[in-house]
Amino acid sequence: MCGIVACIGKRRAAPILLDGLKKLEYRGYDSAGIAVSEGGAVVLARRKGAVSQLEFARAYPGTMGIGHTRWATHGAPCERNAHPQTCGRIFLVHNGILENAAALKKECREQGEVFASDTDTEVAAHLIDRYFREGGDLLHAVWSACRQLVGSYAFAVIAEGREEIVCARRHSPLVVAKGDGEAYAASDLGAVAGAGRTACVMEDGEFARLTQEGIALFDADLASVVRDFFPAGEEAAAPEKGTFRHFMRKEIAQVPLAVENTLSGLQNQDISKLIEVLCQTKYLHVVACGTAYHSGLCFKYAAEKLSRVPTEVFLASEYRYADPVLPDHTLTIAVSQSGETADTLAAGQLAGERGSPVVAVTNVEHCSLNRIADFVVPTCAGQEVAVAATKSFNAQLAALYYLAVALARGRGMRAPSLAGLPVLTHEALLAGEGVAAWTPYFTVARSAFFLGRGADRCAAIEGSLKLKEISYLPSEGYAAGELKHGTLALVDARTPVVAVVCDETLADKTMNAVHEVYARGAPVFLVTPFEELARSEQVTASVLIPRCEPAFSPMLSVIPLQLLAYHVALALGRDPDKPRNLAKSVTVE
Ligand code: M6R
Repeated sequence: MCGIVACIGKRRAAPILLDGLKKLEYRGYDSAGIAVSEGGAVVLARRKGAVSQLEFARAYPGTMGIGHTRWATHGAPCERNAHPQTCGRIFLVHNGILENAAALKKECREQGEVFASDTDTEVAAHLIDRYFREGGDLLHAVWSACRQLVGSYAFAVIAEGREEIVCARRHSPLVVAKGDGEAYAASDLGAVAGAGRTACVMEDGEFARLTQEGIALFDADLASVVRDFFPAGEEAAAPEKGTFRHFMRKEIAQVPLAVENTLSGLQNQDISKLIEVLCQTKYLHVVACGTAYHSGLCFKYAAEKLSRVPTEVFLASEYRYADPVLPDHTLTIAVSQSGETADTLAAGQLAGERGSPVVAVTNVEHCSLNRIADFVVPTCAGQEVAVAATKSFNAQLAALYYLAVALARGRGMRAPSLAGLPVLTHEALLAGEGVAAWTPYFTVARSAFFLGRGADRCAAIEGSLKLKEISYLPSEGYAAGELKHGTLALVDARTPVVAVVCDETLADKTMNAVHEVYARGAPVFLVTPFEELARSEQVTASVLIPRCEPAFSPMLSVIPLQLLAYHVALALGRDPDKPRNLAKSVTVE
């Protein structure tokens, strides 16, 4: 995924780049680097590890530079694979994947060129260097190189001896911004926003030249384009942990606020046109990845139960290559916290091309997904820093349940109110702290299971993802009734099982699975509103959450599971905010 930043102006570039990179670290954090130009000469600083490893470079002189924080795709995370990558007088940072890098490298090597890294990016530096030496114009050199590249990229490129930054965008996000005598580029608006600045999100295929005088934009044929710049306001204060040890724990504590803000935001927004389209819809499709996919599963359960409209949920990465069938009157809902997930974007685009209106449910105002959608439903979770999605999941549920209720009522059916959910999530949060006591069973475990039926299964799957993502403990979220068809073979005394039982009509059935795993020696933990179940002799420990409409219960039952993952990760010495191998925003395939 990676985050890139670039700046040119009157102030020293190094501190601007480092502060910008810190805001982009959610995109990757295995290595980082900056290149700063002073008097025509470029100084490079690269380190393995987080952006903080580059603090020594903060004092570098020079008012123009580029920076990068990496999530490795090609080549191990190490200093020589960190960006900026360089060749000759060219230095560049890249977010994306160059799919024909191997073929291009082979061709370069045949001409005697030598590569210093294992990255796909370095080949772009070689191509740009070649064209730059031939023609001497940096913009034209970048454009010529891009014509040879297959894949995705957001580039920021500088050259020794030149006072300009050239950017290019294709299938990776890139925002440019300008202020008084300065210009910026970055992977997201947060890294370039500032008092008195205006910004513009570059379109796919566009190029930009940044100088102290301003920003010139060009289309794919290098014809000049004029775009509107919007106010990029005061720099949003970077979120802080406050009294919490980790962002993840703070963000779980913010779940009730995220739910309340999302619901009140929707009540105060005119979404009548969307509701009109929704109510004419015969089929609902959801495309999403990871946690957002799980919120889609929860939505399917609620939407079908309340409105009887057939709802399908697709993994966006599968959907985009599956030649999906979209019957007439299908509405597609693309769910994404970041609004930048490459697979979700591509799936939303495909649905639109096949005639479906697209609704984006996103947590970031100026994201790419909102720009391709016909309707935008914002979740108001506030910025989420921890890689593990927590409050954004609950905010997605709030938004999706809102749509499910509106749809049911629009079709003349009764649907329960969502008004009590913020208070109930608060109560679930207080009760959920009890899971800290379960931790010892998980730190010695070989693997774990999360079981449920119906909507409870959706919560179980999300709880399982949380646990494996930040504790690295193998874990599976499973349909309680399916366990006995093979998977039960994995269960023994070192396999803690968490059962989510919130639907009274299915409780006895799920408890059958509890009996089965208990009989194999597994310690059993319950998340339920039903006291009598919590007292069952098979149950090692339980958390009692408030009762609510079963279709909405994942909103509450997931909270103890988020807390469980957090406590287990801490007990195992993991960093819950920055799990290994992951990044917050997945802008590559
Ligand atoms: O930004 P998105 O919601 O599109 O991200 C989708 C997934 O990458 C994301 O939910 C991921 O699964 C989370 N890290 C899980 O906690």
